[in-house]
Amino acid sequence: MYHRFALRRAGMVAVILLASLALGLSVRSGVQGQSSPQPSPLPWIQPSLYPDRVILTWSGDPATTQSVTWRTDTSVTRAFAQIVPAGGNPDFAQNAQTVEALTTRLQTDQGIAHYHSVTFRHLKPNTLYAYRVGDGTHWSEWFHFRTASDRPQPFTFLFLGDVQNDIRNACLRVVRQAFLSHPDIRFVVHAGDLVNHGESDAEWAEWFAMMGWMGASVPSILTPGNHDYPRDAEGNRTLTPHWRAQFTLPENGIPPLKETNYYVDFQGVRIISLNTMEHEQWQARWLEHVLENNPNRWTIVTFHFPIFSSAQGRDNPQLRALWKPIFDRYRVDLVLSGHDHTYARSVPQPSGTVYVNSVTGPKMYRLNQQPWMRRWAQDTQCYHIVHVNGDRLRFESYTAAGKLFDAFELRKRRTQVNQVIDHIPGGK
Ligand SMILES: [Fe+2]
Repeated sequence: MYHRFALRRAGMVAVILLASLALGLSVRSGVQGQSSPQPSPLPWIQPSLYPDRVILTWSGDPATTQSVTWRTDTSVTRAFAQIVPAGGNPDFAQNAQTVEALTTRLQTDQGIAHYHSVTFRHLKPNTLYAYRVGDGTHWSEWFHFRTASDRPQPFTFLFLGDVQNDIRNACLRVVRQAFLSHPDIRFVVHAGDLVNHGESDAEWAEWFAMMGWMGASVPSILTPGNHDYPRDAEGNRTLTPHWRAQFTLPENGIPPLKETNYYVDFQGVRIISLNTMEHEQWQARWLEHVLENNPNRWTIVTFHFPIFSSAQGRDNPQLRALWKPIFDRYRVDLVLSGHDHTYARSVPQPSGTVYVNSVTGPKMYRLNQQPWMRRWAQDTQCYHIVHVNGDRLRFESYTAAGKLFDAFELRKRRTQVNQVIDHIPGGK
């Protein structure tokens, strides 16, 4: 969540521009031209007194904190969240605690909205809580969430590739299928290109409709893609102002990339978000530090542009040369990317690392089949379920229709790199 927004954004843009000039780097291009966003025909895009776009994220320890962000119209200038351990008695909310929100104004292409955020603190680990958000009169419904355990415990999470296009029409069904088939999902990892035009409020309306009450009940871990970096008035790509208004994410990454470059530790797994749009070299140094000081058994890294491209003409040799040696050295277990609008899973690297590129939305590219791939798919909307249990991690790839089409298991070994075991349906 980004308060004192305009000032800090201007500062961030200045830092980015200066750094770009100094390093001879520009915000990454190589992306197709983007047409202008259209005004929304949807009636539910305008904010009201009632909270909408309620989304859980973490900005602190998942065992003891929980952040929530939501939207209202500009008449709501003071907002609150209430929290209480969830109970079966209809009077469960009697002892709810009230926390005042931070409020930010966001000018969008559809008007002005207020975004509010609260981080609940001092929560009990592995506990089911009920919360609601509002202005004291106009409240959301009560939602439930569970805090993480403060020690390694088995759990399941959902990984989504690029959603990006035609979200309401084509992507809601995928997320719903994932949650219906795996209601034990504890968080969702989004690999960037959440929308097609990062400045389009109508597209964000569709994205929040996709997450719905699930996004208000299960936290999201988000990394930005190139489409979340629209061009500003000077033609430079900058992170959409929607990002930091809408999501309350960790600020433990490099300073200019707060809430896009960060890590979260959940029950023995460190999940790291890298931002492939800016400051790759600086992030490499940060990554070394974060991997060197990592007490977790498992390490998963997510970012948008893949290390191994699975579509034609989209290779990223500089990124690979910069980041892959670090993944190798620290034996990162799993790397989750998007951008290429295909599915591809790598053969195990000498470090044991497995790389996966995926796509959840309907935009599809031609697959460029290469020797690094162990399994692949084209023209397939996907979601992925990852089960972590002690020394084992099982990765499952499903079509939008819930059909398992690829799976593998990583097994930790005391001295050797991970063992990778295929569980491909049909045994291919
Ligand atoms: Fe992309």
